[in-house]
Amino acid sequence: MIKTTVKSETIDQHKTDCLILFTPEEKKPAGELKKLDQSLKGVVTDAFKEKRFEGKLNQTYLIYSQGETKAGHVLLVGIGKSKELTEEKLRQAAGTAAKLAEKSRFKKITFFLVEGELEKLLDKDRKKTSNEVARAVAEGAYLGLYYFDHYKKKMEKDEAPRRIEEITLLSNSKASLAKLRQQSERAWKVAEGVCFARDLILHPGNTATPTYLAQAAKKMAAKHKITCKILGPQEMKKLGMGSLLGVAQGSNEPPALIVLEYKGGKKGDAPVVIVGKGITFDTGGISLKPPANMDEMKKDMSGGAAAMGALQVAASLKLPINVIGLVPSAENMPSGTAIKPGDIVTSMSGKTIEVLNTDAEGRLVLADALSYAARYKPKAIIDLATLTGAVIMALGHLATAVVGTDENLINKLIKCGDLTGEKLWQLPLWEEHEKATKSDIADLKNIASAGVGAGTTMGAAFLKAFAGDQPWAHLDIAGTAWCGEDKPYVPKGASGVGVRLLTEFLEQEAMGKKQKSKKAKR
Ligand code: BES
Ligand code: MN
Ligand code: ZN
Repeated sequence: MIKTTVKSETIDQHKTDCLILFTPEEKKPAGELKKLDQSLKGVVTDAFKEKRFEGKLNQTYLIYSQGETKAGHVLLVGIGKSKELTEEKLRQAAGTAAKLAEKSRFKKITFFLVEGELEKLLDKDRKKTSNEVARAVAEGAYLGLYYFDHYKKKMEKDEAPRRIEEITLLSNSKASLAKLRQQSERAWKVAEGVCFARDLILHPGNTATPTYLAQAAKKMAAKHKITCKILGPQEMKKLGMGSLLGVAQGSNEPPALIVLEYKGGKKGDAPVVIVGKGITFDTGGISLKPPANMDEMKKDMSGGAAAMGALQVAASLKLPINVIGLVPSAENMPSGTAIKPGDIVTSMSGKTIEVLNTDAEGRLVLADALSYAARYKPKAIIDLATLTGAVIMALGHLATAVVGTDENLINKLIKCGDLTGEKLWQLPLWEEHEKATKSDIADLKNIASAGVGAGTTMGAAFLKAFAGDQPWAHLDIAGTAWCGEDKPYVPKGASGVGVRLLTEFLEQEAMGKKQKSKKAKR
């Protein structure tokens, strides 16, 4: 755990191993940086002049201060053109700087934030009422410093990384301390939720089974004000969840439907239900996947992990809203008992499904969870799933696809995506797509006929049959749940996508409601 402190001091008074300054693309140092440059005998001016450092986004320049300042080192990190500053760029720059500082083996690092300076840049065209500079900086740093070394039991002493122990947010103004503290505390809680999800995803399939996920959910719930119920195969049978059970039947691991209930809102307030695909390993089943990169299919519970992470954050931030998390979890295996192409299952909704491809298992487990969601009479259902490879064809790894039945909900989610940097892009869902889910001999089939294409939309069209009339949005995170290379605040591997997006959404819903009831009172 990294200790975080906030402080107000002048830059030359402050003692730290590494003082980090956000530096825009200007020709020469200005403001506080100019003063610092003078103490450092013009190294910064020199760096700009010789173009060793130009303030480009995520560019870094580490300066040894030779005892000229109380900070052992000064680290400049670029944030790009002043006029084009966004929270996302700040998160990235903070992550980049924190990681470099850690690699350089500093233990105590400090982000220097001049009161109002970055805020002004962010506000320029957007006229925001609140400034979230400290939040973005803290989030970027915490998320960038994430690591997963659970299975590295024997690390050579020299090889073992040294971890950053303390992050200070330093301001030149006392007045901003409360705000810094509040924002960094929030950022820490959000980052904890993201890292909880990342951990769950990175644990391999032989550890993170449906039973393990259920245990993890129980443990998390016990730490927060969340109730957790686990439905096993018997209960599923009783509820008629033939679709979820059909996927699970090829595996020795019993399935679990994780039900998390957080009641931060008023009794009787319609909740938001978050449904997350929880396939702990996807071999494809009898429609077996090819071997290349199959190991990555341990990530097929990323939607479930995001749902669990979001509930944790909602509870730890004590958001005044009711939220339900549902994670239908199973392992998709080929075996003598596995479901076969052509088999027909009956879902909880009563609709029958012809399973033409056992590798389209995500929609099968989600179908029953969506039916289960209806019992909460939710004001919105959001499902997250690593559902289709097709979404990578459409959007690559840069955006999550959103498809749904409620434009208002979709637009809200897209906005939250812009704010958090977890981008969403809407794909259509038309009657023609729904028609293509009809089976010749059952009510539905789990894949469309060859030639229909639109794989991501077809996945959603199938889910729509189970979401019913409730306001519903489906997020296909198959391209965004996993990061193929290190990014400034997303290390290679599990991204934990969805947690920050959902947190933002839940927070806005909670706030919106408060404002509405205030208005009503007046
Ligand atoms: N879990 C996969 C989707 C996936 C692919 C996630 C790549 C992450 C990266 C899903 O269960 C699946 O296999 N989908 C099939 C659907 C097809 C059979 C209609 C796919 O995308 O090929
Ligand atoms: Mn599959
Ligand atoms: Zn899958």
